[in-house]
Formats: sequence, structure tokens, C-alpha cells
Amino acid sequence: MPEYAELNINGKKHKLPVVLGTEGEKAIDISKLRQDTGFITLDVGYGNTGSCTSSITFMDGENGILRYRGIPVEQLAEHATFKETAYLLIHGRLPTWEEHRQFSVLLNDHSLVHEDMRSFYQHYPRGSHPMGILSAMLNALKSFYPELENLEEEINITVTRLLAKIRTLAAMSYKISRGHQVVYPRPDLAYCENFLNMMFDSPVRPYKIHPDVVKALRLFWILHADHEQNCSTSAVRIVGSGRVNLYAAISAGIAALWGPLHGGANQAVVEMLENIQNEGSSIQRVIERAKDKNDPYRLMGFGHRVYKTYDPRAKIMKNICDTLLSKLTTQDPFLEIAKKLEAVALKDDYFIEHNLYPNVDFYSGIVLRAIGIPTNMFPVMFAIGRLPGWIAQWLESMNDPNWKLCRPRQIYTGPKITDYVPFEQRYKKP
Ligand code: ACO
Repeated sequence: MPEYAELNINGKKHKLPVVLGTEGEKAIDISKLRQDTGFITLDVGYGNTGSCTSSITFMDGENGILRYRGIPVEQLAEHATFKETAYLLIHGRLPTWEEHRQFSVLLNDHSLVHEDMRSFYQHYPRGSHPMGILSAMLNALKSFYPELENLEEEINITVTRLLAKIRTLAAMSYKISRGHQVVYPRPDLAYCENFLNMMFDSPVRPYKIHPDVVKALRLFWILHADHEQNCSTSAVRIVGSGRVNLYAAISAGIAALWGPLHGGANQAVVEMLENIQNEGSSIQRVIERAKDKNDPYRLMGFGHRVYKTYDPRAKIMKNICDTLLSKLTTQDPFLEIAKKLEAVALKDDYFIEHNLYPNVDFYSGIVLRAIGIPTNMFPVMFAIGRLPGWIAQWLESMNDPNWKLCRPRQIYTGPKITDYVPFEQRYKKP
């Protein structure tokens, strides 16, 4: 591999250093390009731009590989708990038995939220989207918990608070939106069980925790725990680069995740499947619409900026979906429609040529429906899963000696210098 790439501008050669990753990823370092040449690079959507070096997550979109701190996601899905996965991402290695125990104790100790936060929920307009509420709540946490003087201690406690409280806040928002009594976290329950209990337990109908539902939720969260420099993680890093506090940076990540092209896709997939069922559209008609350039319609849950093959998370998610529905002996007509859509799309020339395969969201909505999660809370479930990744990425950026304020440039295409025309000259009096 060469140490430098050469750029020739008007006959003048510029040497640009080549940077290599541990898995052979290659980059050309252009950090001095403008200073040396006056040029910037233009890369709308950042498809060819590395915004940082990172030792957290490796993904290979051509070969469908995803690893957290070097460990394949398939192995974590098979053996790890979500808590262990969160610890791995944040601390860079798996916890020892004692570290795991202490981590569990801390998460339990911090799982309650300030009672005054209830009034926030109660005054939100009915029908507000839970992602908007969650983003606001996490930002509000900063005001409820006074800052500690010791920075390291402050960061550690904020990380724990966020991981512990996000479940409580999400479940609280669901209960209050339904006008039901809030269920408090229980120290005797593990991370996933505790969340399910806060969501679904009630004085009139005690919730029975089903081990297959716990397993599905654990896998769902592990599969979403990190995905390197995606839209919401980049939002966390960019907002964080202004040296804003962690609560605000995570709140920005949640806002970015909300959109239907990103974390809102799981909700969009289920809404798409619902429309297909309600309208009685044929699978072929749906595929034709998704291919039609004059129709903005897209096959939700298909395609990915990085994966140009089957998303490895989607493979696991499809299995969870099948297993969970058979264990619960539930039938979901949406699963049938999804499988038919996938089968037709994977044989269609357009989808083959465009490398469009199911992504993690294609089957995840059906899993969440089987768990009993309402559709508008699907992106919230994604956010809870992604939180350890956002935290790990924020911490890495804070500790990066080369980190700078993120401030991309642009190529201006507006009018050239134009004189101001006074108001009276622009508008004639009637
Ligand atoms: N249905 C139909 N056509 C599609 C789809 C789709 N789902 N996705 C991409 N295409 C087509 C585009 O029309 C475009 O075609 P063209 O080159 O002939 O004009 C081509 O494939 C490339 O599409 P882009 O939008 O440029 O690709 P990009 O990498 O920017 O898009 C994205 C990735 C946004 C995920 C896209 O595939 C999409 O909109 N998918 C549906 C939404 C979705 O499932 N999002 C979740 C992603 S995973 C996640 O964030 C958790």
C-alpha cells in the first residue's frame, strides 16, 4: 500500500497521506488540502468521507460483517446480555464477573427518575410522538441532576444515569400516554425484564414475563447497539464536538434517529405492510411502485448506505421473528406479506442491480409488534438499543487528541454580490 496518494491540480502535484485501518480500510487524509491547494472536497451525504478514526465498531458492507470491539455481532447475539454488550462498547472490553455485578447495581440504583419529570409528560399534547418526548426528556435530565465538580465522576455518573433512566422514561411515557398508572423499576429484575414490566404490568392485570419475549428484546437491543458513523451517531459526534454536555448530544442523536430513512424505518415498514393489507395491493404492484422513478414510494426496510448485501442484523432479526411468533403461537399477517415482498424483491432485476436487500428494520417491527410495543414507540426501542453506541462514540470523540469542532464547508451557488434595495423602492404604496 502506498504511503501517499498524489493529486495533480493544474500540473502541480500534491502528496496526500494514506491512512490504513486494522481491517485494511483505506483513506486519503485531506486535512491539509484546503490549506495547501485552496480546494475542498465535495461529498454530498458524506458517502466517501471518513469523519474520524474509531476503534468501536467495524462493518464491511460488501461482505455483511458487523463487529463490536472486534467481536462478531452474531456471537454477541448468541451469548451476551445487552448489559454486557453496552459495557463492551463503552469500556472497550467485556466486563469481569465483578464489574458486571457492579454495573448491574449501578443501573438499578439510578433507574428511578425525578418525580417532577412526570409533569412534563402530563403537559405534553396528547398524540405527541414518543421520540419527540424522549429527546426532550433526556435533554431535561441535565436540569434535574446537578453537575459534579469532578469531570471524570460527572461523566461516569451521566453515562450510568442515561443507561438506567432511558428505560424508565420510555415506559413512563407509554403509561402516561394511555392514562395508566406509572410502574416503577424493580431492583430484582434484569435490564430487559425490568423494561417489559414497567411497560406492561398493571394493578388489574399483572404482567407475566415470558422468557422468549425477553430473549427477543435482548437480541433486538444488541443488534441495534452500535453501527459506526450512521446519521444519528454522527449527530451525537457533531453536536458533541461543540463540547456540549452528554445529555444534549444524546438528545440530538434521538432527534436524528426519528426520521423514516433512519431509525423511524421500523415504524414506516409496519405502516407500509398495514397499507398493503388494508388496500389489498398486490406484491407486484408494490414492487412496481418502489421502482418507479416518478413515484416517491420506496420499499421501506430495504436498502442501506453501507450494506450492499444482506444486512447481517436482518438475518438474525428474521430468525427472531420466526422463533418468537412460533413460541408465542401468534400469527401475524404482516410476516406473510413481508416474506412475500422480500422473495419477489430479491429476484427482481432492479433490486439486484441496485444492491437492495432487507435491512435491520424490515423484520424488527414485526418482532416489536409480537412483544406488544405500539407502532409509534418502535423508534424509541431503537433509541434505547443505540444508546450504548452513542455514549461510546461520544466518549471516544471527547478523548481523541486530534478531535476538532465539526464544521464542514460548502460550495456556494447563490447570487453574486447584490445591493440592498430599500423597502420603499421594492413596494409601491397602494
Ligand atoms: N426502494 C426502492 N428504491 C430504492 C430504495 C428502496 N428502499 N433504496 C434505494 N433505492 C434506489 C434509489 O431510488 C436509487 O436509485 P437510482 O440510483 O436509480 O436513482 C438507488 O437505489 C440509491 O439510493 P440512494 O437513496 O441514493 O441510496 P442511499 O445510500 O442514500 O440510501 C437509504 C440508503 C436511505 C437507507 C435508502 O435505501 C432508503 O431510503 N431505504 C428505505 C428506508 C429504510 O429502510 N431506512 C433504514 C435504513 S437502516 C437504518 O438506518 C437503521
